[in-house]
Amino acid sequence: MLRQKNYLALGVLGCILLLSATTADNSVHILSKYGHQTLTSTTLKWLPVTHYNPSDSKEIIIGGSENVPDSQDENYANQAEVKRLVLYVCRAMHSGVWVAGTQKEKEKVCTVTIHGVVQSYEKYELLENVDGAARISWIQWNKYTPPPVGAVYVDKTMLVARHEVPKDLEKPRYTHYIGTLSSPENFGTIVYVNEKGEEESAKSGELLVEAEPIRYELGSVKLNWSKRRDIKRVPRILSEATIVNRGAEPANLAEACVYNYKYSVYWGRRHAILNGLSTTITLINGTSLPNITWGTRDDENRTEAYNVLIYLQPGTGVNVTLKANYTDMEVPYSANLISHYEDSTTTSRMISGTRQEETLFDITPEFGPIYFLSNFSLVPTTVPPPTTTTEPSTTTLMTTMTVPTTMKQDSSRTTHRHQTDDSDIDHDENLIIPPKKTDISTGMHDNNTPLLLKVEVQYGGATSVAFQSSLLTLVIPLLLLLILHKIT
Ligand SMILES: *[C@@H]1O[C@H](CO)[C@@H](O)[C@H](O)[C@H]1NC(C)=O
Ligand SMILES: *[C@@H]1O[C@H](CO)[C@@H](O)[C@H](O)[C@H]1NC(C)=O
Ligand SMILES: *[C@@H]1O[C@H](CO)[C@@H](O)[C@H](O)[C@H]1NC(C)=O
Ligand SMILES: *[C@@H]1O[C@H](CO)[C@@H](O)[C@H](O)[C@H]1NC(C)=O
Ligand SMILES: *[C@@H]1O[C@H](CO)[C@@H](O)[C@H](O)[C@H]1NC(C)=O
Ligand SMILES: *[C@@H]1O[C@H](CO)[C@@H](O)[C@H](O)[C@H]1NC(C)=O
Ligand SMILES: *[C@@H]1O[C@H](CO)[C@@H](O)[C@H](O)[C@H]1NC(C)=O
Repeated sequence: MLRQKNYLALGVLGCILLLSATTADNSVHILSKYGHQTLTSTTLKWLPVTHYNPSDSKEIIIGGSENVPDSQDENYANQAEVKRLVLYVCRAMHSGVWVAGTQKEKEKVCTVTIHGVVQSYEKYELLENVDGAARISWIQWNKYTPPPVGAVYVDKTMLVARHEVPKDLEKPRYTHYIGTLSSPENFGTIVYVNEKGEEESAKSGELLVEAEPIRYELGSVKLNWSKRRDIKRVPRILSEATIVNRGAEPANLAEACVYNYKYSVYWGRRHAILNGLSTTITLINGTSLPNITWGTRDDENRTEAYNVLIYLQPGTGVNVTLKANYTDMEVPYSANLISHYEDSTTTSRMISGTRQEETLFDITPEFGPIYFLSNFSLVPTTVPPPTTTTEPSTTTLMTTMTVPTTMKQDSSRTTHRHQTDDSDIDHDENLIIPPKKTDISTGMHDNNTPLLLKVEVQYGGATSVAFQSSLLTLVIPLLLLLILHKIT
């Protein structure tokens, strides 16, 4: 019993191995610019014909066409009318090697030849251009020129080639014969099946070549925030501080809370897009995001500052805690991917994917009760504060405190436009904004020089008198040092 089971297991394993051996290698190899090494194409694939359904809108590489007089189909009515049928590039296993040949549009066989033996196979593979993403061309070749970079291999040594049917041939039926260029080190001849179904060879012809892009441009990016998915959401305390008014007058006080976090963004990997290429990103409304390397996760340690504002009477203080949620979320997107090639041509296509981003969300200050500095007793909250604050200088009564209405963050100058409120998100498809380098929140990004903090404070509400001043302060990056700035 046990032994039987083992045999069964072995059998199953064998089948799996066999399956993976036959299905695994439908990758297409192309000649790289590094000598005779080959690369795996990201955009081409050998597609077993059994997996091909002509009603799928798959793009199959075409190598030529066939002129079929209409008379063959129907009656003799219109001799001059000529129908054009395409010739697809295919490959079949022929005497133990993969050989490239032709599949006619109306037939279900791949006709190949090697060593003088012409054969048509029902089991074969077509050359698929996945998502129409590959830019391919047929490039002139003769035995004195080395095959160009990007030349497409049939398997490991031979290249996909075609021979143009000589124009002097009377009424040629085919435009090209698709075949194989034997390894250039050998004789370097293109071998194909001619009109009469016989093997022929030529010392010149054309090779199938795929151009790889050199960079990408992800344009018109539409993020679908309504389908956002949170993978992780962890509350975090960014910074704690005490703000005090030691002056003689009531005042609006500003405090820049500095904090660090890991920011990470990943636009995903997809087949038919080459990983490792530099990619620029532009949102649908024209806003540019920082460049990325396609297929890799971009991590950075960010240091930012949040400007906390509060109105305090003289001789009082308040504790403030800056809180946030550290989130890891996925947002689906659609975009137009433009591939740029070395010869400065471009191709474009629509793609969709998922953008993953780890960042801080919901950054909010939480204020404790206001207390007297002299005896630490809490300031009695008697009168509810009016919604609009009056000029501080006119306030003479010490006992009435005007509190939280002015605790508004300076939202116009921070990078934290992220909000969890979904109704807000729906209004604006692209809520991500790259931090501006001049912003106080990113001022100390890339070096250790002292941070120049330009704090802009506004009086809350109707008076809206803008006070502007700047303060040069040394900031020790790892300590969340607090900068107190008093406005008079
Ligand atoms: C976002 O996804 C929803 C649900 O699939 C869809 O109805 C909506 O059209 C999408 N919005 C955009 C801008 O793609
Ligand atoms: C982003 O990439 C584009 C195109 O390669 C380049 O012109 C631009 O300078 C890059 N921007 C940055 C900030 O590196
Ligand atoms: C971010 O900081 C951590 C340690 O705090 C370090 O291990 C990591 O390499 C840094 N990452 C970058 C991109 O600088
Ligand atoms: C403010 O914070 C200090 C130190 O963090 C603490 O000793 C004090 O009790 C706090 N005061 C209030 C009113 O929460
Ligand atoms: C963090 O997220 C939770 C759940 O969505 C929310 O209740 C909480 O208010 C958020 N924290 C902050 C500081 O906004
Ligand atoms: C604390 O001191 C303030 C003035 O500095 C005073 O108005 C208040 O009554 C004092 N509170 C207590 C409990 O002593
Ligand atoms: C595009 O959208 C972003 C994010 O919502 C916004 O910050 C930016 O100002 C917008 N750009 C334009 C040109 O409208």
